[in-house]
Order: sequence, then structure tokens, then C-alpha cells
Amino acid sequence: MNEIRVFSPATVSNVACGFDVLGFPLESVGDEMVVRKTKAKGIVITKIEGFDLPFDINKNVASVSAMALLEVAKPEFGFEMEIYKKIKPGSGIGSSGASATGSVYAINELLGRPFNKLQLTEFAMKGEFIASKSEHADNIAPAIFGGFCLVKNLQPLNILQLPTPTDLYAIILHPQIEIKTSESRKILPKMVPLSDVTKQLSDLGGLIHGLHTENYDLIQDSLNDHIIEVHRSKLIPYFDIVKSKALNAGALGCSISGSGPSIFALTKGKDLAIEIELVFKLIYSKSNINFSTYVSKICSNGVLTI
Ligand code: HSE
Repeated sequence: MNEIRVFSPATVSNVACGFDVLGFPLESVGDEMVVRKTKAKGIVITKIEGFDLPFDINKNVASVSAMALLEVAKPEFGFEMEIYKKIKPGSGIGSSGASATGSVYAINELLGRPFNKLQLTEFAMKGEFIASKSEHADNIAPAIFGGFCLVKNLQPLNILQLPTPTDLYAIILHPQIEIKTSESRKILPKMVPLSDVTKQLSDLGGLIHGLHTENYDLIQDSLNDHIIEVHRSKLIPYFDIVKSKALNAGALGCSISGSGPSIFALTKGKDLAIEIELVFKLIYSKSNINFSTYVSKICSNGVLTI
């Protein structure tokens, strides 16, 4: 095989109570990439469509991740990549994670799969680092492994794949304002009250147990963020009204996707998800902010060949 086309999913990280450790991928939103072998060694980006991103291989997340892999694999040939960005950078649904994931997955396939998913996550994290200036795997791990993933440990990296209840749907509201992950990390407090940590821990435990037991009531009771949301939501116009309307309409939970500005809600079933998408649209269509919305099942596969 000399050429491959891949779909690399958008992801919702943090998922309310799991800051930096929990995430899930979306089935119907993601980037596409074409990667092919070249005689010349190294990486070249030949095309980027969708958004204005650097062709400089030291600045593009996809090529930085790929180079981390090539440094270990040392093949006698190189690769060129075409990137079809569908996920807006700075949207909060894992745009950089999708680029980083797509390139390492594609090259690994073209090399005959010398690396496992954990190793691919480590390579992709090198790319994610240049975008967000922080080492976190809560977008990349779900994009690579599929389904809900818990980042149990960063060093050594340990990813736990959690069960994903079949009726779970995600609704995304993406206000078209840019919030850089690096900036929205800077506004977070360095110290937090112990009582908030206690509540967050019990909600994270509750959510994970709810996923294992397909207990939607427990999932609903656990989708709370006592630590991060209060700070970051100030950067997202109409966050409070969007959240309260989503919860009143029956969402299991509603919070910030990753570092924002996207907002996500989860529902049991597609019909309610579509209703909540309408609620989101109604609120934002009254503002002067451009936005997009998505309804998606949780992607159980992660990145894949198309
Ligand atoms: N967990 C990271 C954060 C995700 O919230 O900063 C950023 O995409």
C-alpha cells in the first residue's frame, strides 16, 4: 500500500468532571487526510484545505507528530500529506488532536502497523503539545482508541477504554469565536478548594460507573464540573442560558467541550438530541455570532481508513 485516506474524528474532552483525563470522539465530525509514500525521506505537506494552517513541517501539528514517529521508525522513504480540515482550529472539539491523530495513524498503516495505539498516542501528543503548550491526551486517546477513554497516567502513558452506552448522543454548539487552549489554561486557578475536588472526584467516579452500567440516571447525576467551568464559561457568550435550556429540555448534561468555545450536551437517544440542537440554534440565532451545530453518535472506532 502506497497511499491511504483516513477520517480522524473530532473529540469532546474533559466531559464536565474529567478535566484533562476524559474524552470521547464524534462519529460524524472530523478531518480527512491523504498520506502517500515518497522516495525522498522526511515529511512534506502538499495541500491544506479548509483552514489556513502552516505548511512548515515544524509548525504543523500533523507533521510534528509524524516526525516523532519517523524518528523511531526510520524508514528508507518519506511521506507527503494532504490535509482536509473540517474542524476549525481553536473550536474546542479537538482540531489539533484530529490532525495529530490522522497523520500518525496513516503512516503507521503505510508502514505495516509497527506501532500499537498507545505508541501512536504518544507520537500524536508531540504534535498536540505545539498547539496547546501542554501535554494532555484527552483528545488524542479517544480519537485513536474510539469510545470514552480515561487517561489513567501520562508517564508512563496508560489509557483505559471505557464502555460507551449505545443510546448516547452528543450535541455540539460551536460559536465561531476563537479561544486558544493555551490561553484558556492560563486563566485556570493553580489551587482549588478541597471541597470542590471532593465533589469532582465523586462525579467522575459516578460517571465512569454510569458508563459501565449503562445507568443514564447516574450519568445525568454525574455530569457536573465544580472546578473548571465557572472560569472558562466567562469566555463563552450565552453559556449559562444555553446550559440551563439544555438541561430543562432533558439533556443528561451540558458543559464546555475541551477548552471551549464549543459547548456539548449529551442525551439518551437521537430525537432528544435533535430537539436540543434546535434549542441551541434558537438561542444563538438571536445573537450576532456565527455558529454551527452538530448532532453525533459517540464514535466507537476512532480514526479509520476510508
Ligand atoms: N483538557 C484540555 C483542556 C483539552 O481542557 O485544556 C484541550 O483541548
